[in-house]
Amino acid sequence: MSLARYLARLGYGPRKACERLIAGQQVRSASGAVLRDGDPFAHDDVRVDGAPLDPPPGAVVLLHKPVGYVCSTRDRPPLVYDLVPPRWLVRTPVLATVGRLDADTSGLLLLTDDGPLNHQLTSPRWHLPKGYDVTLADPLRGDEAERFASGTLRLQGDDEPVRAAILTAHDGGQVRLTISEGRYHQVRRMFAAVGHHVTALHRATFGPLDLTGVNIGSWRVLAADEVRALREAAQSAARAAKGAR
Ligand code: URA
Repeated sequence: MSLARYLARLGYGPRKACERLIAGQQVRSASGAVLRDGDPFAHDDVRVDGAPLDPPPGAVVLLHKPVGYVCSTRDRPPLVYDLVPPRWLVRTPVLATVGRLDADTSGLLLLTDDGPLNHQLTSPRWHLPKGYDVTLADPLRGDEAERFASGTLRLQGDDEPVRAAILTAHDGGQVRLTISEGRYHQVRRMFAAVGHHVTALHRATFGPLDLTGVNIGSWRVLAADEVRALREAAQSAARAAKGAR
């Protein structure tokens, strides 16, 4: 693919504008050599106005979502896309969120332009565990963990019971609920089903990933071995769930 087309797909502007960036010598290699449109290039070696390129096609980005931001490309702001460079919204294909977190939920959110991977991580057939730190209005009574683990808990309006989930007590009155589905408002609805009101919700883990080193509102691109581990975790969770049926 030509450099101008590549930059256009990454959202650096329409093809013509990217051709102008190149003609204006704003696109260079890391060593400062001017790149021309027909030149071979490697993503990591390209600089636009001295800055490295945005994540390459197929990247997976881990974002630490603050409360208040909406997981949508077009909704009432602020959107999670307000936390990343504006080019990310006009990339082809877009870096889409992997599932959603409610506006009033904080925590670990993945974005990727790898459609099959996104599908694999969100499809109900895959059972990747996700851990939520939950603050409740009232203390636990004692029967909640058993009810969540039973695999028979029904949420209002749903025909199927939710899959077994693990509840553990945490420091400072918080609890951690680990679920392996992604139903609408699932954690809040599960607690409502056992008579609790959730006052704060934070996704702390997604399969093997957590938020270590990523400040609230910040993001980082996953390394290739982290993406591999994520795929493997999804595959082994799906196999385990199939074996249990
Ligand atoms: N469960 C919820 O209730 N909300 C979220 O954002 C995620 C899981």
